[in-house]
Amino acid sequence: MTDVQARPGANAYGYFDEAAREYVITRPDTPTPWLNYIGEGRYGGIVSNTGGGFSFDRDPRNRRVSRYRYNSIPVDQPGRYVYLRDQDSGEYWSPTARPTKVELDAYECRHGTAYTRISGSFKGIAAEILYFVPLSSVDEAVPCELWVLKVRNAGARPRRLRSFSYVEFSLPDAYNDMTNLDWAQHIVFSSCESGLIRVGTKFNPLVEFFASSEDPAGYTCDREDFIGRGRDLADPIVVVTGRPSDAPSPRGNSIGSLTHDIELAPGQERQIVFVMGATERPAEIGRVVARYSQPAEVTAAFRALQDDWDAYLSRFTVVTPDADTNAMINFWNQLQCRTTLYWSRFVSGYETGLGRGMGTRDSGQDTLGTMHTVPDHARRMLTTIWRMQFADGHTWHQFYPLTLEGGPGLAAEYPRWPQWFSDDHLWLIISVCAYLRETGDFDYLDQKVPYVDHAEETVWEHMLRAVDFTLGHLGPHDLPRSGFSDWNDTLNVDHGSGKAESVWTGMQFCRAMLDLAELCEKLGRPVDAGRFTALQTAMAGAINDHAWDGGWYLRSFDDDGLPIGVSGAAHHAIDLIPQSWCVLGRVAPPERAERAMAAADEKLNTKYGIALMWPPYDGADPRVAGTSTYVPGAKENGGIFCHANTWSIVAAAMLGHGDQAYGYYRQILPLARTDSDLYRVEPYTYPQNICGPAHPSFGMARNAWLTGTASWMFVAATQWILGIRPTYDGLKVAPAIPSAWPGFKAHREFRGTAYEITVRREGRGNAVSMVVDGAPVPGDVVPQPAPGTTTVNVEVVLR
Ligand code: GLC
Repeated sequence: MTDVQARPGANAYGYFDEAAREYVITRPDTPTPWLNYIGEGRYGGIVSNTGGGFSFDRDPRNRRVSRYRYNSIPVDQPGRYVYLRDQDSGEYWSPTARPTKVELDAYECRHGTAYTRISGSFKGIAAEILYFVPLSSVDEAVPCELWVLKVRNAGARPRRLRSFSYVEFSLPDAYNDMTNLDWAQHIVFSSCESGLIRVGTKFNPLVEFFASSEDPAGYTCDREDFIGRGRDLADPIVVVTGRPSDAPSPRGNSIGSLTHDIELAPGQERQIVFVMGATERPAEIGRVVARYSQPAEVTAAFRALQDDWDAYLSRFTVVTPDADTNAMINFWNQLQCRTTLYWSRFVSGYETGLGRGMGTRDSGQDTLGTMHTVPDHARRMLTTIWRMQFADGHTWHQFYPLTLEGGPGLAAEYPRWPQWFSDDHLWLIISVCAYLRETGDFDYLDQKVPYVDHAEETVWEHMLRAVDFTLGHLGPHDLPRSGFSDWNDTLNVDHGSGKAESVWTGMQFCRAMLDLAELCEKLGRPVDAGRFTALQTAMAGAINDHAWDGGWYLRSFDDDGLPIGVSGAAHHAIDLIPQSWCVLGRVAPPERAERAMAAADEKLNTKYGIALMWPPYDGADPRVAGTSTYVPGAKENGGIFCHANTWSIVAAAMLGHGDQAYGYYRQILPLARTDSDLYRVEPYTYPQNICGPAHPSFGMARNAWLTGTASWMFVAATQWILGIRPTYDGLKVAPAIPSAWPGFKAHREFRGTAYEITVRREGRGNAVSMVVDGAPVPGDVVPQPAPGTTTVNVEVVLR
């Protein structure tokens, strides 16, 4: 096997440290804030490479803990800050490089598994802050985060320092905190007693708190006291003078600022742990703070967090000839999959946690990237989403995880258009089948779950109702009506006529029917299997009869029944996703599949990824509404939508085109983008979109972190390029790797057994011969080992 290159992900701002499994950011002035997440989907939030970010407890709209001003100047503020002040010289600085503008002598940020460690040195003082949220299993009662500050005197003379923490509290109701100042500013108050700052209102039992492991020398509870007149976070008066206010905040803006005196002999180090959180049980805060005042408890909590992530990441690992691919699959892609499972599209550097809740479509797909490692969590998520289903089979488009309040999302603003989306409910079928193939947990089908508007039924009955919804909403060509939109939220073609149809949803329906037919075969229900097969055949027939444009599949029919995505059109002549899903849904006869994929490659592929459609709209076009509101080349209007790229990878691999699949994979691999000044966003997570060829910023990525790209890319890379995929009968190994790869090795846990897989290339094709524990096996599926088998060795030769 060829040697892997050193330091994947290296660019002008950082690199991936493989041994530590941390992305190391070496400069504070990244083109955008490069973020990480802390917490496990309950208490937690985002943290940037300069300490910016905010926290909330489960629901960022109704239980917000701290503030962050999106899209404000200076960017990325406020956050979780500690200022240091030299009491002799009066100089002060931020070890996280912001919010002061003092240039540090040394700076480094390390983003790891749900923790971030930022270190900064200034004139002989080396400081670092480690941010993390202890696992809820450590202490369920009081959700909290820890900031572990270490300050060391690296110089030769004794030093007298003062530290000042800073975090700005939010009214738990974050929307009113920002918009209803007349109210919000008169209800919040805070005070400090015995080193514990408590923030609250007269009516909400939720108490926000801030405390530390050491007795403070002073405190400041009020933002205006801290900042002073005419100043800002870069030069706040309390830090400039070194004198905290030692006063409560009777109204207005509450902060968590504790002052500590830190006197250090040469070489000496001090640790102060800050504890911040929110609870309805304030009597327990003291116990929690006392716990984390013991260094051993902090170390143990951090260890427990790392153990949890080590276990999470241990179930699929790979060694390929491409170091960037290895780092992505083994680490960042899996980390991002868990983050999307936790946070859907709720809170990121772009999503404010105010409006959208979690998406049924989004979270349904997010489960796909975590089935192999946290199937129970995936199952719980699917069950939650089934609760968002109506008895007619469609689902709410979004929901709030804490209250389980559902809603139709953007559709609510257009009451005369359909209030349902044609794809939401179908993803659940696809994901449940993926869950069953992974786990064999067929009992799940019998689990009872209520509907939004109907008593509980089994998951199986929920699935049948999802099928019925689509069948009950077919349009003039017997294709699924489009609803408010399909997967492409911005393709709003049904304006009330009911004639608009989504060709793509027809293909998605075909995939769901194939999955159901396969499941029914497995369950020994041939009649049902036959019905689903017939439904797939009928839908594929309708698509082939009405939606083949001669060179590719068209995308939709509009409100007048006219086609979109047809050759010769001035705008939107070809759309990417029917060209891949005609393969995923086994809709296209082989020759059409090849032509459709070739057309997409020729007309849409670029060096930065595959554009979603071409040519883009150049101004508002009422036929498609949303899509045409974007400037040409942005987002769904001809941008490179990374999520949709994953399906082209799957389709190319399904057709056996390993070089093409890997080419598509590699061209949007974030760690391989070394041109960070163009790319701009975090190079370690998939972004939602990259500006397309029609855009002046072609190649610039936006919306890092929360995207369906994460889960689908993990599926595309591991199940289709590497070809390691669960089936009901065992683990399949059917790679479609590049012809130049000599092979790869993988470790894959599947239903309690570890599979050690070695793939060796002896020819240029994809034909598999398999040897399992030394014995040749026909086909490409490893037979299920005897119960209790811990390890199975699989050798595959490709010819
Ligand atoms: C966004 C939405 C997702 C949608 C996609 C394409 O990522 O969260 O639901 O499928 O855009 O429009």
